[in-house]
Amino acid sequence: MVTDDARPGRRSFNFSAGPSALPTDILARVQRELLDWRGTGMGILEMSHRDAGGPVQEAMARAEASLRRLLAITDDYAVLFVHGGAHGQFAALPLNLAAPDQPLGYVDTGFWSRRARDEGARFAPTAIVASAENGGARLPAASGWTVPRGAAYVHLCANETIQGLEYLSDPDPTGDVPLVADFTSTLLSRPIDVARYGALYASSGKNLGPAGFAVVVVKRSLIARGARPQTPSILDWSKLAEPAPIASLYSTPATFAIYVSSLVLEDLEARGGLVAAERRSSERAARVYARIDASSGFYTNAVHPPHRSRMNVPFRIRGGDSALEARFVREAEALGLHQLFGHPRFGGLRASLYHGVPDAAVDALDAFLVDFGRRTG
Ligand SMILES: Cc1ncc(COP(=O)(O)O)c(C=O)c1O
Repeated sequence: MVTDDARPGRRSFNFSAGPSALPTDILARVQRELLDWRGTGMGILEMSHRDAGGPVQEAMARAEASLRRLLAITDDYAVLFVHGGAHGQFAALPLNLAAPDQPLGYVDTGFWSRRARDEGARFAPTAIVASAENGGARLPAASGWTVPRGAAYVHLCANETIQGLEYLSDPDPTGDVPLVADFTSTLLSRPIDVARYGALYASSGKNLGPAGFAVVVVKRSLIARGARPQTPSILDWSKLAEPAPIASLYSTPATFAIYVSSLVLEDLEARGGLVAAERRSSERAARVYARIDASSGFYTNAVHPPHRSRMNVPFRIRGGDSALEARFVREAEALGLHQLFGHPRFGGLRASLYHGVPDAAVDALDAFLVDFGRRTG
């Protein structure tokens, strides 16, 4: 088995914010199986999702079972593998959970929570219940949220992939109003108290595996009454949750991506589940932030330390020297450290430390931060 520390062939250290690095041993297995899956002479890419109990349905059932074990998801929640990424779910939320005139509450902590709100606003009146403080550097305390009366839900983004602001624990429930959350860039990095959420969802291209689908975990009681009548069926959670033969088969699912994710999920379980994943994430992120903080202002990250993302570490050099940042990216690439650029709209640098990033990559990044700072600082 290829281990975390190995770089077989020309595998680079990849810090992409998503789609992101996948564990090498999983990719190697997928490659081996691609032409001939278990002696069938076919690859899983070529198999029908309508084959009752066949390889595709088995992979989907395994992915669901593994996710349920990892997150301790109880039977009163449905688990759905759906099309349209997180963007699809930004629209699915109001269509499934809110009447047309029912207000929606959004916690605004950065780019992705605003994206979710803008899409929600196309279907129902929205209100910002709280915003990030200190110029976007601090999460607002849940005790200060102003939730509109009769709100269908309060939405938050569990990890702002661009700003690097993360809820490292689950906020307290919002009275009777369900809490819903975008976990796209942090799902599987820590245990989640699922019972605090009416629904949570994540696009797949980060810790979960390849891009191509989203997972939705939703309390069955919230979808019992069905979506609004005009809801496109592809966004209708109650249709997708129909159990026969298994859920998520209303239309052709992203079979290959879900299959690869089933391997990622089982790999996470084999490595000690989400308690171990959280320990690993927090140690790795702490190392990178410590290096930034020890650089006497050469590298900076303005986020309030308890709210710093463990998955995405955005940073600047000399407060935003773009020429030096471009040089950092170039020199890092020459050493095999890739995708360290920030989001094109916001600039700067960003190191994403998802599950598929090996520990050796974090060691190499740490050494490069020191070396680059010494040479140019
Ligand atoms: C937190 C968060 N939410 C939503 C999205 C959008 O995901 P998608 O483009 O797959 O719909 C992203 C993408 O990076 C994200 O990081």
